[in-house]
Amino acid sequence: MAHVKVTERVHTIEYAIRDVIVYAKALAKTGRKIYYLNIGDPVAFDFDTPEHIKQALFEAVKSGANAYSASEGLPELRQAICEKEKRLNSVDISAEDVIVTSGISEGIQMVMAALVGAGDEVLLPGPTYPPYISYTRFFGGKPVPYRTVEEEGWQPDINDLRSKISKETRAIVVINPNNPCGALYEEKTLRQILDIAAEYGVPVVSDEIYDQLVFEKKFVSMASLAQDVPVIGLNGFSKAYLMTGWRLGYIYFHSPRGALKELKECVEKEARIRLCANTPVQKAGIAALKGPQDHIREMISKLRARRDYAWKRLNEIKGVSCAKPEAAFYIFPKIHGVGSKWKTDFEFVLDLLKETGVLFVHGSGFCPVYGVSHVRGVFLPPIGVLEEAFNLVEGFMEKKARL
Ligand SMILES: Cc1ncc(COP(=O)(O)O)c(C=O)c1O
Repeated sequence: MAHVKVTERVHTIEYAIRDVIVYAKALAKTGRKIYYLNIGDPVAFDFDTPEHIKQALFEAVKSGANAYSASEGLPELRQAICEKEKRLNSVDISAEDVIVTSGISEGIQMVMAALVGAGDEVLLPGPTYPPYISYTRFFGGKPVPYRTVEEEGWQPDINDLRSKISKETRAIVVINPNNPCGALYEEKTLRQILDIAAEYGVPVVSDEIYDQLVFEKKFVSMASLAQDVPVIGLNGFSKAYLMTGWRLGYIYFHSPRGALKELKECVEKEARIRLCANTPVQKAGIAALKGPQDHIREMISKLRARRDYAWKRLNEIKGVSCAKPEAAFYIFPKIHGVGSKWKTDFEFVLDLLKETGVLFVHGSGFCPVYGVSHVRGVFLPPIGVLEEAFNLVEGFMEKKARL
């Protein structure tokens, strides 16, 4: 049979975080121990879904909540999401403003499908979470990264953002707390972004999946500050409720003067053609939001100790430096030898993997402009495992410095 042709757009898809696993798996087959510091899944480490959430899923299935749900999600879950957003983030929305999705990932796809067309531009933090780049391209648009500044803990450079707005700009994406940098944006910065959005009449897409995983400073939600600016919020259950594999997230529309009415109707249509999110998991989502929240405090305290260790150890390694993450579980160190000892950050990642079994993700996978010469690691494993991995990184860097 003749070769089956595929679309141009499908070739634009890249997801660095999982793409590097192919190399690690090949190495693992030879018997090598791999330190998977590439993927942001706490449940793959020593963090487990809380018992009452597991129980709620079990009960949902047993009691027959196994049919399709409404496409926008179970009304009780949408209501619980509003209450959570109000209680924790001071966001005022009603249940009708919420659409439940199969993880934020599906939400990103739906929102970008409705916002981005051929030739449209989307302002993305540089570095960013890669699906924002891929979906912008997939729908024919152009991702435009705005600079975030390493020396300022990866806060957005407002002047750079302003200089990149054009008449083609369809949205400003903000990821706060940030993946891959672990930055927590200051309220002042968020207000400046809103001012620019208001001035140019563009909406803000605010991904807040790490809202509850902050270490010292307080998280401020974009929609709680926005008055006239429309904000499309994205959030979910994967990280704070340790439900990564269950796939549950949500989109909400903060829509002053009905500015997002049409967008919301279109996203609702998209929700209908994919029927609904997993019904029993939605039931468990209600239990997650309404039940005990103690696991979050425990998680933060474990993560804080691991963050402190990772940050100190990595900065002690010659040829490596990094800003201190203030949230989430990512660290984004700079590798000084990229450009001299290694041509690219990707080459560094593969060399390190081959020699030590430690797997990071190349920074250019998060932004070809502002991510280069960096790698992203997670500090999710216990300190003993991090210690083994960082000892290997240190040995590797010392050996390379001698060559
Ligand atoms: C910023 C950000 N948004 C969205 C996601 C995907 O979340 P979900 O599991 O809800 O699809 C991730 C996962 O790492 C993320 O870091």
